[in-house]
Amino acid sequence: MSLPIHLGGEVAGTIEELGDGVSGFKVGDAVYGIIPMGGFAEYAIASAGDLAPKPVNLDFIQAAALPLGALTAWQAMFDLAKLSNGQRVLITNSSGGVGSLAVQLGKAIGAHVTAMGSAANEAYVRSLGADDFIDYKQQRFEDVAHDMDVVFDTVGGETFDRAFPTLKKGGFLVTAVAFPKDEASTFGVGVGRVYCTPNAEQLASIRELAEVGKLKAHVATVLPLASVKEALDLSEGGVPAARSFCRSQAEIQHK
Ligand SMILES: NC(=O)c1ccc[n+]([C@@H]2O[C@H](COP(=O)([O-])OP(=O)(O)OC[C@H]3O[C@@H](n4cnc5c(N)ncnc54)[C@H](OP(=O)(O)O)[C@@H]3O)[C@@H](O)[C@H]2O)c1
Repeated sequence: MSLPIHLGGEVAGTIEELGDGVSGFKVGDAVYGIIPMGGFAEYAIASAGDLAPKPVNLDFIQAAALPLGALTAWQAMFDLAKLSNGQRVLITNSSGGVGSLAVQLGKAIGAHVTAMGSAANEAYVRSLGADDFIDYKQQRFEDVAHDMDVVFDTVGGETFDRAFPTLKKGGFLVTAVAFPKDEASTFGVGVGRVYCTPNAEQLASIRELAEVGKLKAHVATVLPLASVKEALDLSEGGVPAARSFCRSQAEIQHK
């Protein structure tokens, strides 16, 4: 990769132009998705396979807040950990951009969701559907969480290490942050790391959930494109339940 790079991965916008051979989209379609770079822009170029129609009930800002978090949670919990209806899942950072969508996805498929966060975010996380809430600043979460089928970790470090005993035998710990070694064999569980990748089919499923009101990203701050640095600083600072976005428009090019 040669520097400088043009930042920005999540986009939502209207198709202005189609590349040669692109099918399934037309100029004027409203789309959303993830692109490798260049999303912090008025116009962006995307591969058709990385986009899907935007949820009709969301505006472009709300739609642009969904792809990375929702795809990461989907791929972690459903593709890797095989979370299913009736199973128990612990989500370690439930108020974050990824975790807040993970809580909603877990509930959407009928899992029992135990959410972790700090007290200031309990009401928010419960409003997303969490069944139980652990204030990790007041309690050692591994003392109260047991028999999990799945743990989805977006904290890493010590939290990742301490999450293993909360799983039942045969359970699965999936992390978006840590780099698992051979911890799984000690506890008789599975472990894996998610690397979010664009997926138009999953974006279509995510759109359906959004359109029936089961999935929504929390947008705390909207800033103009010129304030990208401020947006990144806010995001870096882990503002509770906050994400900041800039508008962009997507232009589709043949893959
Ligand atoms: N592998 C991938 O493909 C992939 C994709 C996307 C993101 N990620 C990674 O996933 C991580 C999370 O991203 P995000 O955007 O969801 O985070 P975020 O929105 O920045 O998370 C911020 C929240 O983290 C919570 N938090 C801080 N320390 C905590 C702890 N010890 N235990 C539990 N919660 C804690 C705080 O909430 P409380 O005040 O409630 O504690 C804070 O509001 C990042 O490291 C990101 O790089 C990886």
